[in-house]
Amino acid sequence: MPKSIRVSSRVTPRVAIAIMAAGKGTRLKSKLPKVLHEVGGKPLLAHVIAAAMKVVPPNDVYAIIGHESARVREAVASAGIGFILQEDQRGTGHALMVAQEALADYETIIVLSGDAPLITAQTIEKLGEFHTSNKAAMTILSACLENPTGYGRVIRKSKSSAEVKAIVEEKSATMAQRKIREINSGFYAFDRKSLFGHINQLKTDNAHREYYLTDLASVLVKAKKRVVAVEAYDSSEILGGNTRAELADIDLRMRRAKTQELMAQGVTIFYPDTCVIDSDVEIGADTIVEPFVQILGKTRIGTDCRIRSYSVIEDSTIGDGVVARPGCILHDAKVERGAVLGPYSHLRPGSEIGEGAHVGNFVETKKIRLGKRSKANHLSYLGDAEIGEGVNIGAGTITCNFDGEKKHKTIIEDGVFVGSDSTLVAPLTVGKGSYVAAGSCVTDDVPADSLAIGRSRQIVKEGWVQQKHKGR
Ligand code: UD1
Ligand code: CA
Repeated sequence: MPKSIRVSSRVTPRVAIAIMAAGKGTRLKSKLPKVLHEVGGKPLLAHVIAAAMKVVPPNDVYAIIGHESARVREAVASAGIGFILQEDQRGTGHALMVAQEALADYETIIVLSGDAPLITAQTIEKLGEFHTSNKAAMTILSACLENPTGYGRVIRKSKSSAEVKAIVEEKSATMAQRKIREINSGFYAFDRKSLFGHINQLKTDNAHREYYLTDLASVLVKAKKRVVAVEAYDSSEILGGNTRAELADIDLRMRRAKTQELMAQGVTIFYPDTCVIDSDVEIGADTIVEPFVQILGKTRIGTDCRIRSYSVIEDSTIGDGVVARPGCILHDAKVERGAVLGPYSHLRPGSEIGEGAHVGNFVETKKIRLGKRSKANHLSYLGDAEIGEGVNIGAGTITCNFDGEKKHKTIIEDGVFVGSDSTLVAPLTVGKGSYVAAGSCVTDDVPADSLAIGRSRQIVKEGWVQQKHKGR
């Protein structure tokens, strides 16, 4: 591991990281700004910010935003970084022109692209260290790609030299230059004085009529400044998500890295390429994840669980030894150890399932607490309810929580037995140990240890059929 430059950034030389994120992303053909497209379950820009924040403190990280700036800012505001507004997007060079004032106090400026989310802190540090030790005006992070098409090419002074003459964009490259496989990653380190001392020399005489930051390489070389290039640890780290196909490729790489990381920690994942697991998900050892499972957002799953196929679990916390049978959908739910879910349970926000409890087929829950060892095994809707321990909720039970205007609460105390097909009209309390007869519509509180029957008594009319058919 290279030593961190975090310490030195506090003294001199002070290092800022500026992330270019103002572009529209025309090639995506999308209403959503490019840097907010998601890979690994998070916006492109959020990944780049996370890597940057491992290298310098958040107040030394700046995102240069422009297209849909309010939306971009809101999406990543929680990181606590600074923002620089580039109102018209006139190219990567222009993005840095508008950043001049905000970055005036720094000695070194590391520039990252908001659309290249595989970048690691390690590589950013390597770039910074190479830059400092080479006393360069500009250091380009490069990579050698099998297929360099579309990227700017790095033209070195000679093959063995660290020094660079220029970066040539694909569109202006000659046939010979296009054969060069060393590409410009779009990540750079600059000596601030050299950067802003020469940035006004950039011109827009190119295919897009934009200010290219890449042209600064030749501008600085002409001014007799030192421009060098250093290769990334892993060439895939520089991949950018400019098209939907590139986004899919980056997403797959991230998902693979995530499942590899989890498997290394002792999680079994069958057919990992069929599972979609977001980067922030945590899963304990000896948990088994079956094919075609999605585990998303900030979900945490304990040890020794089994998550069966076709389950989608988002922002939820699951204790040890839980079984989610096929087809469960969980969102913002909490499930305690040893509980059994599904098949086909739907746990909506605020559902808390206690230790050893069972929630079965076609049971929908929302904002409820189901106590220890309680069971709701079939075909129920349980919403806005507090259900105690050892309760049995019969098949088809419904808590009627909504009166058309307001939501009301149902309280079912410990040890209650609710017979099948009962409707419990809230607000309502069913006292400890009581029974509700099957098929009841319960509208009034039930005291402890009683039986509530809320249906009309069955009438049997013997011989009724013969009567009906008389005279046929
Ligand atoms: C850029 C480089 C290219 C390099 C490639 C690596 C230039 C001219 N070319 O091309 O050499 O190989 O990255 O991925 O820089 N942005 C702004 N403001 C603008 C324009 C762009 O903030 O006015 C942002 C974009 O949102 C994006 C980043 O800068 O995050 C890079 O811009 P993009 O248009 O994707 O550049 P590339 O064509 O990929
Ligand atoms: Ca790009």
